[in-house]
Amino acid sequence: MSADLVHPGHLNIIKEAAKLGVVTVGLLTDEAIASYKRLPYLEYEQRKIIIESLKGVDHVIPQFQLDYRPNLVKLKPDFVVHGDDWREGPQKRTRQQVIDTLKEWGGKLVEIPYTKGISSTKLNEAIKEVGVTPDIRRKRLRRMIDSKNIVRIIEAHSGLSGLIVEHTHVSINGVQEEFDGMWASSLTDSTLKGKPDIEAVDITARLSNINDLLEVTTKPIIFDGDTGGKVEHLGFTIRTLERLGVSAIIIEDKVGPKKNSLFGTEVVQKQDTIENFCNKIKVGKAAQITEDFMLFARIESLILKRGMDDATARAQAYIEAGADGIMIHSKEKNPDEILEFCKWFEQYDRDVPLVVVPSSYDTIYEYELADAGVDIVIYANQLLRSGYPAMVETAKRILTYKRAYEARGNMMSIKDILHLIPGGK
Ligand code: SPV
Ligand code: MG
Repeated sequence: MSADLVHPGHLNIIKEAAKLGVVTVGLLTDEAIASYKRLPYLEYEQRKIIIESLKGVDHVIPQFQLDYRPNLVKLKPDFVVHGDDWREGPQKRTRQQVIDTLKEWGGKLVEIPYTKGISSTKLNEAIKEVGVTPDIRRKRLRRMIDSKNIVRIIEAHSGLSGLIVEHTHVSINGVQEEFDGMWASSLTDSTLKGKPDIEAVDITARLSNINDLLEVTTKPIIFDGDTGGKVEHLGFTIRTLERLGVSAIIIEDKVGPKKNSLFGTEVVQKQDTIENFCNKIKVGKAAQITEDFMLFARIESLILKRGMDDATARAQAYIEAGADGIMIHSKEKNPDEILEFCKWFEQYDRDVPLVVVPSSYDTIYEYELADAGVDIVIYANQLLRSGYPAMVETAKRILTYKRAYEARGNMMSIKDILHLIPGGK
């Protein structure tokens, strides 16, 4: 069982199982659940307490993978009792493995008809509607890093784009794919306001954008903190973000006036000294109140063509100064230098989370990044970059044809936009 949201369907399975003998529940760990669907709301230990106290349950043991076989071989049970809803979908193969394994000692699979009228998906949607507290949202990023192969983050610059990140999903071979959280990008926050990405949009305005995201979403947020601003101000920024339920800030080792990294050496950009930046990290870390909030140090050495040795020296220094993770950035079209850094990092410190932003080297797949040891991938600007050309095209058509009819095919219908956000009627 995952038993994140316990409902009568679970109780029915336990009741039926108890008729057959001593009941041991194999409770899926967070990692096992995250391998095929979203991270559970409750942590393993919390779910364990709940299941242990249910009538009919004698033991609860962890099940570390979707695969039942390791536990089955250990316990050699006479019966495996399971809901019959796993005959199709991502658990279909697992079911066959259970049947084959049980045969080895004459065990039997007992399937309990799925309890109708209860849908975990619907319950999940209902929970999303109720919302989330800042504490739970903040903590979720760390939990995801611990439980997922790679955490998938995408930029959100408005309430509307936040809703896209919150709800968009696809199902591939029965596995539900969705985004794990949002990146509050300085580039898209600035662009949205028609300003360059030079820290001209002040923290108050950035926080107002974040507030729009918080209002309509439940997923974790990583804040692009640019250079972190004046070191004397950084502590205030961090406490505010933390209080709002933001999970992490990423600050970059440049000194103002900051320019966007993707300009590379086309513009004059200055990197901070290791000493100064380490001090910033220490001040930032000292300011936070909770244990969950994270500060990632972003290394700009590859962007500024300072070389791999500079990047690795900085990573070591920043981790020693207390950074919770490292973001390594590159604007190369191919991922070679990023992969080289990852290789070094893998050997240096596998426990510290590593973040990458494949904006220019966008041919690399997530699984390749995960294999290289990357923990978080950030799609830093793709939603706004998609929206803008569509708007320009519509504007041009209206100017060309002197009416909006020719732009119809480019747009969602009036009916659709009226119903996009519920509660308008
Ligand atoms: C952003 O999204 O604002 C970033 C990433 O900082 S980059 O634009 O590549 O600098
Ligand atoms: Mg930025």
